[in-house]
Amino acid sequence: MAGDALAPLMLALKLALYAAALLSSGLALHGALGVVERSARAAWIRFSALVAACALVLGALKLLLLNAQLAGGLPRAFDAESFSWTWAMQAEPSLALATACLAAFAAWIFQRHWLALFTALGFSASFALTGHTQALAAPGLAPLAVGLHVLIASFWLAAPLSLWPRTALADEALHRRLERFSAGAVFAMPVLFLAGLWLAWRIAGGWTPLLESGYGRLLLAKLAAASLALGLGALNKQFVTVLIVKAPERGRAWLKRTLAADALLFLTALLLIGWATTLTGPPDL
Ligand code: HEM
Repeated sequence: MAGDALAPLMLALKLALYAAALLSSGLALHGALGVVERSARAAWIRFSALVAACALVLGALKLLLLNAQLAGGLPRAFDAESFSWTWAMQAEPSLALATACLAAFAAWIFQRHWLALFTALGFSASFALTGHTQALAAPGLAPLAVGLHVLIASFWLAAPLSLWPRTALADEALHRRLERFSAGAVFAMPVLFLAGLWLAWRIAGGWTPLLESGYGRLLLAKLAAASLALGLGALNKQFVTVLIVKAPERGRAWLKRTLAADALLFLTALLLIGWATTLTGPPDL
């Protein structure tokens, strides 16, 4: 299969890498920042490390696929000559990804939950050091904005797992998790949206190309999916969290619905950004 015919495969691989990297990062943040109670933190950190290992394998496969695209086809994925070029472009994000994985295992093995913060920072750096912001004539703060954007997106993306109303989780513990999560989300979500909107304007090259280009429209569709998820978050904060105390059974049923819808919207957002950064691109880059 020739290089560009590999693009759909690259999209599938990037989607899996997004999901693994953001989930590992989000679980690490929920464990290290205390969204989940003390007795659950070791399990969250362990799960984050196992998912980080998946992200590392997916990262290595992405490197090979990039090399295959450069060398002209899948049979040449291990082509050493073109790999020196591939590595020159991908060394920094790959090393950031490996550092994130290392931090995840160190947090688990040495039971030092604060080390998990470096898992999240490592994954965010791996996104900041690649992608369209690196191709801007004067990147400035744009790579940092991607890193911050992805860090907060991971905190949000892990919420359906950390807040899922398992039978084994008592109503009080569930209520505390919801309160702790939304205490962080209230400050973090505006930053995620502002960084995303600024990046969209910056990378697309202005409001007109954002509104008129295929790339721009994919980002606006992503904004719509994220805005729906934000609406569900507000519903959880204003209505469902209260219901968990007043009528736990009904509250739990509502929470399952909103979190399942959230997970679908997050997958949609990842599919749209994967499409925007793999099968299309900004008009002028
Ligand atoms: C559920 C919420 C969101 C999630 C999970 C999410 C996830 C991501 C991820 C993983 C990336 C890195 C993509 C890569 O480098 O390959 C990214 C980049 C980006 N996101 Fe978001 N995001 C969310 C919300 C938003 C919102 C609301 C906007 C506003 C329009 C936005 C705009 C962007 C832009 C412009 C980039 C850079 C794309 C590029 O490099 O071409 N995101 N996002």
